[in-house]
Amino acid sequence: MNLIDEVNALIQEAGEADIMNAEALEEYRKRFLGTKNILKGYFAKMKDVEPENRKAFGQLLNEVKNQAETRYSEVQTLIRQATRVQHQLDLTAPATPIAAGARHPISLILNRIVDIFARIGFIVVEDREIEDDWHNFTAMNTPDDHPARDMQDTFYLKDSSTYLLRTHTSSVQARVMTQRKPPIRIIAPGRVYRNETISARSHCQFHQVEGLYVDKGVSFRDMKQTLYYFARELYGPETRIRLRPSYFPFTEPSAEMDVYWGLKDETDYRITKGTGWLEILGCGMVDPAVLENCGIDPNVYSGFAFGMGIERQGMQKYRINDIRQYFENDMRFLAHFGSAF
Ligand code: PHE
Repeated sequence: MNLIDEVNALIQEAGEADIMNAEALEEYRKRFLGTKNILKGYFAKMKDVEPENRKAFGQLLNEVKNQAETRYSEVQTLIRQATRVQHQLDLTAPATPIAAGARHPISLILNRIVDIFARIGFIVVEDREIEDDWHNFTAMNTPDDHPARDMQDTFYLKDSSTYLLRTHTSSVQARVMTQRKPPIRIIAPGRVYRNETISARSHCQFHQVEGLYVDKGVSFRDMKQTLYYFARELYGPETRIRLRPSYFPFTEPSAEMDVYWGLKDETDYRITKGTGWLEILGCGMVDPAVLENCGIDPNVYSGFAFGMGIERQGMQKYRINDIRQYFENDMRFLAHFGSAF
């Protein structure tokens, strides 16, 4: 075999050698590209080649070298990729954590409450947070000299004695009763505002859910049974309730509803003030004056209404001891509520 044939055989070998594993590839590198590679010997034999063929011989040798370089780096890449794929398929490797979002605890509780009432035919209504004096107070039978109207308690809009941030969702009662004819059965969740000093127990903004049912022949008994159903759905089937007489300008008679929480530990004593009972909502029969203010004939229709705060219930349920935590957007707090309530 002359030199030309030998080099041609090398070209073929460099192109076809089986080098699809790391060791074979390393052998290949040594043979064709290493410091003692086979081509060096042939370059040394250049002088034995007839002068007119030297150029062609040199080109052939370079061809072997180029081919070996190209193929080496291609196969090297393939082997690296294959190794990486193996890593991806390692089912014992620790998983990459997924940053899943969580609902805000206020939304969780609101949704729960709204769902419970939706199941018995209450329709969700949302209305404005910037309200006028009439819907928030006057229509709701709250006289001009009532302390709630004081600047101390209510945020009025700048230079206005008419517009304010609603102090309760009861304003939605007035909105609905002036717009719709009975039967009315609505549930109104939303944010309310009161001019209170911010502390661990109270905030100048919080959330309420309002309920209103107006039809012919609606009685206190209907209210009690509806609220009892609600309490059992939210707090569990064994839940006991009690109604205590109370006062609101817009209901008569009025009551506050407690659910029995228990007195098992020190925290129970603290959150129930030693009674075992938790106050969760205010309620009552819609005052005939309110119906009248809103254009509904109190001689034909009657109704009940109730309203409850969300933050307090959440604080009891999740044992949150500072109301400000709801509004601070601290991820360490929010991340607790992934699938809660
Ligand atoms: N609006 C009352 C409050 O904010 C709650 C309430 C609503 C009471 C409806 C009775 C009827 O405290």
